[in-house]
Amino acid sequence: MNNVEQEYTQPIGLDVGTSRIVVARAAKDKKYEYHTQLNAFLALPHSKLAEDLLRQQEVFHEVQGTELVVVGNDAEKFAEVFHVEMRRPMKNGVLNPQEPHSLAVVRSIITRLVGKASAPGQKVFFSVPAPGESLDSAITYHSASIQQILVELGYQATPIEEGLAVVYGELAGSNYSGIGVSCGSGLCNVALAVLSVPVISFSAPKAGDFIDANSADVTGDRANRLRVLKEQAFALNGFSTDRVQNALTVYYQEMITNLITTLRNQISSSQKLPKLEQSVPLVLSGGSAMPKGFLEKFNKTLSANEFPLRLSEVRVSSDPLHSTARGALMAALC
Ligand SMILES: Nc1ncnc2c1ncn2[C@@H]1O[C@H](COP(=O)(O)OP(=O)(O)OP(=O)(O)O)[C@@H](O)[C@H]1O
Ligand SMILES: [Mg+2]
Repeated sequence: MNNVEQEYTQPIGLDVGTSRIVVARAAKDKKYEYHTQLNAFLALPHSKLAEDLLRQQEVFHEVQGTELVVVGNDAEKFAEVFHVEMRRPMKNGVLNPQEPHSLAVVRSIITRLVGKASAPGQKVFFSVPAPGESLDSAITYHSASIQQILVELGYQATPIEEGLAVVYGELAGSNYSGIGVSCGSGLCNVALAVLSVPVISFSAPKAGDFIDANSADVTGDRANRLRVLKEQAFALNGFSTDRVQNALTVYYQEMITNLITTLRNQISSSQKLPKLEQSVPLVLSGGSAMPKGFLEKFNKTLSANEFPLRLSEVRVSSDPLHSTARGALMAALC
């Protein structure tokens, strides 16, 4: 097999997230290459002219019945042009049962990002959420559906829980022992692993979408506008005279408190917790771990009560939006 063929048949890591889908591939010099699409779409009434124009402009779209469905990163651009709300195929970490286009849109985004397998059985690991409040049976359907999409493209597809993927992506330095946390948009996913073996994993339901929706409720804004403000200008540095900043701060604190309380309870009540001789690191990743001041707020909340494990460090990933995909790739490479 020559180098080019090898590059294309190598394993792939795929992060199927509520707001973004990310593919990771190994590149030269032990680096990684990422491609991302927004996990969103918008639907316009179909006309031959509009379809021709979208095709000419190379806009990522599909015709579905009487609708033109603009998918992925292009959906955001066209939502502004046409003043239409973007729709999301996933909610709370899994395919949204209330969205009729959910599976078709996710299929088209995944197909665009990974393409057909270049050899039958090419390996791909894809992220799935861990069980959490009332999610368990939805995860089974979600995971089986994503697997089916990948199998139809010719891949040998294996699910990996998102928290464990973070451990693979971030904790090589501690022999894959420690706590991986991904604060995303639909969920916070957590795994405690010892030597790469998951001991505890769970998801907590309050994450970025919860912050946007609840802040929007109290300020009277649209959740999408608050999401944009949050991503562009928000810092967790206390209250001010700005009501958007204050609302975001309140719901960020609620997300962090809920995450730490659940983590503490899960560890304390676990029957199978191994005796750890050394303290272990905790790494925070995902888009919702990105605001300035997040780590300080997390540490402050953590230290308010005793924690049932000794932690050697708590840090934020240096690349929070790619941790899960990179970890899924590392797992596929093992
Ligand atoms: N710079 C930023 N500051 C604050 N929040 C951000 C920033 N960038 C992204 N986010 C938020 O992070 C979330 C998206 O993160 P991520 O891409 O990790 O989620 P996901 O993997 O798609 O979702 P999930 O894992 O929950 O299914 C969104 O709520 C988004 O608004
Ligand atoms: Mg995620």
